[in-house]
Amino acid sequence: MSIHVKATPSQFPPPMTSMTPREHGDPCSMVIFGATGDLARRKLFAAVYHLAKGRLLAHDFRLIGVDRATMTDQEFRELVRKSVEASEEISGFDAAIWEEFEQRLYYVQGDLTQTSAYTALRERLHALEARIEARHANRFFYLSVPPFIFREIVDHLSSSGLAPRTEDPKGRPWARMIIEKPFGHDLASALSLNHLVLSHFNEHQIYRIDHYLGKETVQNILVLRAANAIFEPIWNRSHISHVQITAAETVGVESRGNYYEHAGVVRDMFQNHLMQLLALTAMELPHRMQANLVRDEKVKAMRAIRPFTLGGLQETVRAQYAAGQIKGKPVPGYREENGVSPSSATPTYAALKLMIDNGRWRGVPFYLRSGKRMARRTTEIAIQFHKPPYLIDGLTGLEPGTEVDPNILVLRVQPDDGVTFRFSAKAPGAALALTPEIEVASVDMDFTYTEAFEQTLSPAYETLILDCMIGDATLFTRSDEVEAGWHVTDPLLEYWAANPPTQMATYEAGSWGPEPADDLLARDGFAWRKP
Ligand code: BG6
Repeated sequence: MSIHVKATPSQFPPPMTSMTPREHGDPCSMVIFGATGDLARRKLFAAVYHLAKGRLLAHDFRLIGVDRATMTDQEFRELVRKSVEASEEISGFDAAIWEEFEQRLYYVQGDLTQTSAYTALRERLHALEARIEARHANRFFYLSVPPFIFREIVDHLSSSGLAPRTEDPKGRPWARMIIEKPFGHDLASALSLNHLVLSHFNEHQIYRIDHYLGKETVQNILVLRAANAIFEPIWNRSHISHVQITAAETVGVESRGNYYEHAGVVRDMFQNHLMQLLALTAMELPHRMQANLVRDEKVKAMRAIRPFTLGGLQETVRAQYAAGQIKGKPVPGYREENGVSPSSATPTYAALKLMIDNGRWRGVPFYLRSGKRMARRTTEIAIQFHKPPYLIDGLTGLEPGTEVDPNILVLRVQPDDGVTFRFSAKAPGAALALTPEIEVASVDMDFTYTEAFEQTLSPAYETLILDCMIGDATLFTRSDEVEAGWHVTDPLLEYWAANPPTQMATYEAGSWGPEPADDLLARDGFAWRKP
């Protein structure tokens, strides 16, 4: 049962931003390192094309792809065109927009470990920037490359002079870089990478991307809390019993078995995406929507997470998907995937409980779970409130306080981005005339973005690329935030590494994960929501 609340434009909150409104991103050269790679082809080209379609790119914008493959500009344009046409995230390919857009695409061949690649890029950039005003010669480098090469690229960018260090965040021309995840493999490597990056550049030039922050519902968490009078007063331990954060995927490791074997679910999903969802839910509200103020509060929330105790570590759950069925089709188990060892102990699923030791959250468990090859693709934050303190006798004919479901506020990140509020209502019928009992049922009040706003949502990468072009780092992670995330997950990774399972637990592909994950909540008297 659901009640649809349809928003009208007049109900929308005013945009919460300290930025001066603008019509498009700054003029710039966007350089994509790893331009023939998977991420560029699946996400980045389509996102930039869509910005062009929305007239959100400056007149002086150009995209330069850099990679090892030998290719002419024309061949690169074909590659981009195919990627854009194949993208499921953008609606409709517009030939007229494309004709204009493709003129802005260029390609430079080069091995990113060699100085010659940067020399070739510098020459190309000089030629392309020759006719534009010097203050418009902004440059933005997207490191869409495997992490082992980050360090070399950062060194080269600095020593080649392609990306000078700048002190003033408002200075022109600017040089910025987007660094893809994973940012480090553990705390020590993240610290060392931050050290290296910050020895060449200023923090305001670095945009560490976590694409979850570009998702509409994730951005909506703060708006929901700040632009409504009813949520913030009850957003605390007095009213909330626990929080469940789920990121379930139906896909397996696909072609990324090699990467995943070294990452596993905690590095791939928890340290970044789930930690961000937790931080945005748990943080105090900043007094202004300004990048550093928002990030300060996130860091404080993450630092208040209680370090794992041995008991806490022992309670955590890890497992691997075994063969099963997804949407009626048989799929192999993790150990049968390409690039995966047949005796692998890499978890594709994890569930854990975190406590936040501050006045707002003390005593409220945050349960986090994520897995591949699960029953449904769904990412959500479910905020479960305490059960009603008492009931009217005879309301359900049962003992007061035992049977009514608690209220749950579900922030649906995907699919069907939106919010659901679950509450109790009288079930219809004339039961009262026949028996002295009133039936109570749970019903949902539902808000779905696409329905309420009657538009498709922008892909996360589009939002984030535009933010980088206008210099708004609110949706990017700062160095201390990345480190705070590793502080939480490092002890778990170390404990798991030191205590390999005698037999790796499994869950059937297409299921809701392994049974011990249910025990994690059952011990506290709760159960996972089945989204
Ligand atoms: C990536 C992970 O960061 O996020 C992938 O590396 C995962 O393994 C993906 O599949 C999930 O993103 P989304 O947007 O599909 O939830």
